[in-house]
Amino acid sequence: MDYNPFATETLADPFPAYAALRKECPMHRFDNFAHPLYTATRYDDVAEMLTDVDTWSSHYGQMPRYSVQGCLFSDPPEHTWYRKLVQASFAPRHVSAMENEISTLISALLDEMEAHGPTADFHDALACPLPVLVIANILGVPTQDIEQFKAWSDEQLAAANASDMDASKAPREAMNAYLLDQLNQRRTQLSEAGIDPATATESVLGETISDDVISGILLAEVDGRRLDDKERLVMLNQLLVGGNETTTSLITNLFWRILSDRDLYEQLRADPSLDAIAVEESLRLDAPVLGLYRTTTQPLERHGVQLDERAKVMATFAAANRDPEVFEDPDTFRLDRDPAELRKHLAFGLGRHFCPGAHLSRLEARVALRQTLDRFPTLQLDGDPTRIAAFLLWGRWSLPVTW
Ligand code: HEM
Repeated sequence: MDYNPFATETLADPFPAYAALRKECPMHRFDNFAHPLYTATRYDDVAEMLTDVDTWSSHYGQMPRYSVQGCLFSDPPEHTWYRKLVQASFAPRHVSAMENEISTLISALLDEMEAHGPTADFHDALACPLPVLVIANILGVPTQDIEQFKAWSDEQLAAANASDMDASKAPREAMNAYLLDQLNQRRTQLSEAGIDPATATESVLGETISDDVISGILLAEVDGRRLDDKERLVMLNQLLVGGNETTTSLITNLFWRILSDRDLYEQLRADPSLDAIAVEESLRLDAPVLGLYRTTTQPLERHGVQLDERAKVMATFAAANRDPEVFEDPDTFRLDRDPAELRKHLAFGLGRHFCPGAHLSRLEARVALRQTLDRFPTLQLDGDPTRIAAFLLWGRWSLPVTW
């Protein structure tokens, strides 16, 4: 089948192509790239790619190009070690405790939007700044630096479709220099207090240095070993790039759908018990990460297609989420889905690499949804939204609204 993952029409709306691929060409090979790129679109195949880590490796990165970043973009046992580090910071208990703070942030952003009304770009007013403010808060990045931060993280993602290995280098290096400075500031604070940063324990958190993820990663020790600075930077970078544009997209996609169908908006306004279902249904129908790559560890065959060892294959979450074998009426946004069916969506991945930020982004989207519904009963679209740039992400770059 003729399919180009980078073509303008695919970028504009990949779902018709995904439907055709799922049906006619479930393991598609694309040859107009530096090396063959495969695309898997059926639910069962994508789920297998995410769970069988011995066959489908993350060692060469999640992007179409081969790159060895390490840390979370790795396989067990390396991955297991790093994963323990992030797990603690993003534990559901920890995240739930942030609900009030998130609610206050949303309320302030909506105040600002209302004050400049009755029109706004919902992306700029709420969906974009919210995740950046939240993650900056968790990491411990000063608020005045977050615009620069957001730009670096977006530039790295936008460079994902470049076959040039160095395309994401400049923003990555700029962000690393900034994060290293943040780590060094904390080391200086410890040294000035007469504490050796190399042996400091968690008792200094909230006392000598701020209690945030940057400090946590500075001190973290798993199985008796600490990270070195190179690893610390990779981990922080993976958290930042993973969490920003994805959560923004969840919020813009959700509002785009419910504002495109007044009945949905009114139904949600009337019934707060549907909030969590609406967020989940948005994740299923419009997965913010369309797909990510795995690399084969051995030659294998799928659906009559022969793959060499080290073949790059996209596990297309967004296509799996609309597989009619698993989801009824898959192309429709429905608030009456069976929760057991809805739980099967793969928007956050599956298995060992399942998104550690899932709970956080769900919380942000749910609170943003409720507050907006309550405060803006007449909200409606005010023009066509535009799509974000990165080819493997799916979200709105602008969402004009009026009320
Ligand atoms: C709606 C929002 C989000 C979506 C759709 C999303 C999606 C995903 C997906 C699909 C994966 C699996 C990657 C794989 O299998 O290779 C993943 C992993 C990851 N996500 Fe998220 N994510 C979101 C929000 C966040 C947030 C808020 C954070 C951080 C604060 C975050 C940090 C990460 C990290 C660090 C990983 C790598 C985990 C690992 O490999 O073990 N994500 N995410």
